[in-house]
Parts: sequence; structure tokens; C-alpha cells
Amino acid sequence: MKQFIQNLPKAELHLHIEGTLEPDLLFKIAKRNNLKIPYNTVEELAKAYNFNCLQDFLDIYYQGANVLIYEQDFYDLTYSYLKKCAEQNVRHTEIMFDPQTHTKRGISFKTVITGISNACADAEVNLGVSSLLIMSYLRHLSEEDAFKTLQESLPFKDKITAVGLDSSEAGNPPSKFMKVFEASINEGYIPLAHAGEEGDADYVWEAIDLLGIKRIDHGNNCLQDENLIADIIDRDLALTICPLSNTALKVVDDLKNHPLKKMMDLGLKVTINSDDPAYFGGHVNDNYIAIQKALNLNKEEIYQIAKNSFQYSLIDDLKKEEYL
Ligand code: HPA
Ligand code: ZN
Repeated sequence: MKQFIQNLPKAELHLHIEGTLEPDLLFKIAKRNNLKIPYNTVEELAKAYNFNCLQDFLDIYYQGANVLIYEQDFYDLTYSYLKKCAEQNVRHTEIMFDPQTHTKRGISFKTVITGISNACADAEVNLGVSSLLIMSYLRHLSEEDAFKTLQESLPFKDKITAVGLDSSEAGNPPSKFMKVFEASINEGYIPLAHAGEEGDADYVWEAIDLLGIKRIDHGNNCLQDENLIADIIDRDLALTICPLSNTALKVVDDLKNHPLKKMMDLGLKVTINSDDPAYFGGHVNDNYIAIQKALNLNKEEIYQIAKNSFQYSLIDDLKKEEYL
């Protein structure tokens, strides 16, 4: 089964580039930028990756991102993730990046997007991995701040496919970002959002009805509401499920109790993704292998999930055929 998963061509649809910062690369970049970090060794840092909830993780994740300063840092971060994709036979990836995490620290939008997009262009040629970029707004910040980010992105519009919504979900409902999503759609960005990871089914409803999202990041809590499940199926929206993230952040207590199989049996379209692989203990294949084992998924089910990853990607329909 491991070999079957390894050999399957796959796409990753839920991935935060800042969440791919492995402890060794973090140390390397901190050193060359002359930055002090509050850990002495890679092992000490890795030990701090023990979370009780989403916010615990976010505190460490934003702290880690502080070492990223120069275009080269964003390039190295992205290229090393794309190398991992190539090793795991991930042929296409849709990468989220959080511009506000960096612009808040005085790093320019241009530095961030140029480093990331140059790495993507090089990886497409050298490694045969294609990518699209998703600019994610941080939901713990104001809508006004998101508007500022939208403005900053416009000179680089050709490099960005979609907008997303991430960070602390509870208390920051999709309705807070209605206007900036409307403006983003008017600029040609495809709307996506995290919903139903820690937030209830209401947040998933809002993301669909008020933001018009075309895919649901996580979406676990849609299972609280039968009408919502029917609506998601009706609209043919896929869920980007992140099994190891869900157990690391205690969204699910044990992989054996993960609702992925139940979702498939209900007719929901699911994909398997790594979310923040440096923090949650595994890349795409590790997520496939762990959930396959926990839920005893068969080869047809695994194949269907991998197929969904291309089917529900943002690749142009005509180009999709080259992957399927
Ligand atoms: N949820 C919300 N925000 C995030 C996540 C996540 O899983 N990863 C990085 N930012
Ligand atoms: Zn995420």
C-alpha cells in the first residue's frame, strides 16, 4: 500500500508555505540573517511542537516565520518544499502564503511574492512540479488590513490565483471579510477559506453564502448539519482534509475516529493534504499512509482521493486532462 501511495500522482490543495519551515532550515536562515532564536538546538525547537489547539500552534508558527527576511529566504523555503513534492510524486500544488505575517514586520509584499514565485517557476522546469498561489488573509486582523493587502497584491496579480482565509477561526467568522472577498473576486481572484476546523457549521455556511468559496479548507464541522452536507454536495464543493493536522491540533482525538471515510460515504468530495508539514509530522504521503492505516481505506478509495486532488484543483479544465 505504501508503494501504491508513493506511485500515485497527487496534487496538494491545502498547504501553508510558512508551515513548511523545517527546524533545520529555520536554524540555517536565522544564522545567516544574524537572528537570535529562543532555542539552542534543532531538537529543542522540535520539542516545542506540542499543541493543544489551533492557537497554540499559530503562536509558534508566527514566531518561526520571523526568520524570513530576504527574497532568498522565501525562495529557499519554497524550493525545499517543492523538492519534497517531487520526491513524493506530488505533481501539482496550490500554495497558501500569508503576506500580512511578513508585511507587519516591515518586509515588502514584493520580497515575499518574488521569492516564492521564482522558486515555483524554477521547480516547474527543474522538478516537473506545477504550482498556483493562494494569498491568504489573516482572520485575526481587521478587514481594513486585508483590504490593504489586496491593494498591495495588485501589481503581482498575474502570479496569484486565489485568496484564502486562515489563522484563528473562533471569534473571527467569514462575515467579517465579506467586503474584501467581494473586492477580491472583482479583481479576478478565486475565493477559498478555512471553515469548520474549530468553528461550527455556521462558519461553513457563511463561507459558502457570504464569501462564495469554491472549495472548503478543512470543513470537518460541516458534519454537524445535514442540510449543510446536502448543500455542499449540491454545489460540488470539495473539502481539503488534513489528517495529521487534525490530530496535532486536537480537532480529532485519534486518527481512528477521523471522519474522512464517513464524509466519503455521505458523498462529500475529499482530498488529503499536509497543511503545515514541518509542524504536524508529515508531508502528503505521510498523511495518506496514516489515514489509510487508521481507517483501513482500500486502493479504490485512495485512488479516488488522489483523483479528486486534480479534479478539484484550480488548474484550467483543459490543462487538467494532462494530469488525470
Ligand atoms: N488553520 C488556520 N490557520 C492556519 C492553519 C490552520 O490549519 N495553518 C496555518 N495557518
Ligand atoms: Zn490550513
